[in-house]
Amino acid sequence: MAETSTIGSGVALVGCGSATPSQRISNDQLGQRVDTSDAWIRSRTGISARRVIGPDETLTGLSHQAAANALTMAGWESESVDLIILATSTPDDLFGSAPQLQAILGARGAVAFDLTAACSGFLFALVTAAQFLRTGAMRRALVIGADQLSRWVNWDDRRSCVLFGDGAGAVALEATSAAQNGLLGFQLKSDGSRGDCLNLPQVQNYLSLVAGNSHQQGGFQSIQMNGQEVYKFAVREVPAILQTLLKATNTAPESLDWLLLHQANQRILDAVGDRFAIPQAKVLSNLAEYGNTSAATIPLMLDEAVQDGRIKPGQLIASSGFGAGLSWGAALVRWQGPI
Ligand code: ACO
Repeated sequence: MAETSTIGSGVALVGCGSATPSQRISNDQLGQRVDTSDAWIRSRTGISARRVIGPDETLTGLSHQAAANALTMAGWESESVDLIILATSTPDDLFGSAPQLQAILGARGAVAFDLTAACSGFLFALVTAAQFLRTGAMRRALVIGADQLSRWVNWDDRRSCVLFGDGAGAVALEATSAAQNGLLGFQLKSDGSRGDCLNLPQVQNYLSLVAGNSHQQGGFQSIQMNGQEVYKFAVREVPAILQTLLKATNTAPESLDWLLLHQANQRILDAVGDRFAIPQAKVLSNLAEYGNTSAATIPLMLDEAVQDGRIKPGQLIASSGFGAGLSWGAALVRWQGPI
């Protein structure tokens, strides 16, 4: 852990990485299971395929690959990491998978914990990690967004199963001077009163414990979603929170290099881009190939665009995550890359 010192007033995104499962399920393949079609799914969502973790892969394994790639790009030794936050709603271990990830990475000096905020998880974790770095309490953090929603999707419900896939993405975050700061502003929101349009509830099954007493059996139902309500929530709240963020940071939409939104539906991405008159070419999208990978979508998309050279050091990115809770947030970041 770094001593409190002159560092800590800024944070820089200095590395990224991602990993996706090898099983690829196309829309046509899904059509063999439920009454749907490639044309319906693509026209309503922009999704053509999704990746699903099979028996030879695990979520912790994918998270490890993504984090290791981010470490490599940042040029860090794993022992130098102070903090690991794994944003996931679908951990391999309900007590938390981050410590397991810390062990596999060999990041012996890091404290590691999970953070749950559904599709907003990565953004919430990024902001959380930044607070530790800004105070000077810690110097290096790995923030991972990873989800295996395929475990909790009802694969016989065509209204929801076509949307989701599995994946992992990671960012390496370093404490810097204020001049090198890459997290220029953020806004985070929750509204539990609207949470019932998207949730993943426990099974309501009680078993006898001892005479006259019972206990709840552990286990979850499948994802419950009112698609139209979630859609309306996203197209109302995401532009509103981005507007607040841009105003608070005195940023004109024209000065943004990229809009990096949670990848839920191409129609949502298009609606938000239109709201700010941001050309479609600047609205990053990889929905077609991966669908909605929940907490993984933002770092997965970031890594893809950094790797293929679209996102360059110094560029300005407005990002927004949104999803179950309900929860949503936005961040204005400047991609730094390795220092
Ligand atoms: N294939 C074919 N037909 C379908 C399918 C499908 N996969 N799914 C629904 N339909 C049918 C319905 O049964 C309905 O038929 P009916 O009129 O005969 O009853 C018709 O298509 C229209 O259904 P709607 O639900 O009105 O379709 P809509 O245009 O709203 O699209 C969708 C549904 C794609 C789910 C959209 O509402 C959406 O994207 N919402 C946002 C969901 C989302 O992003 N969720 C994740 C949030 S992030 C997180 O935290 C996990």
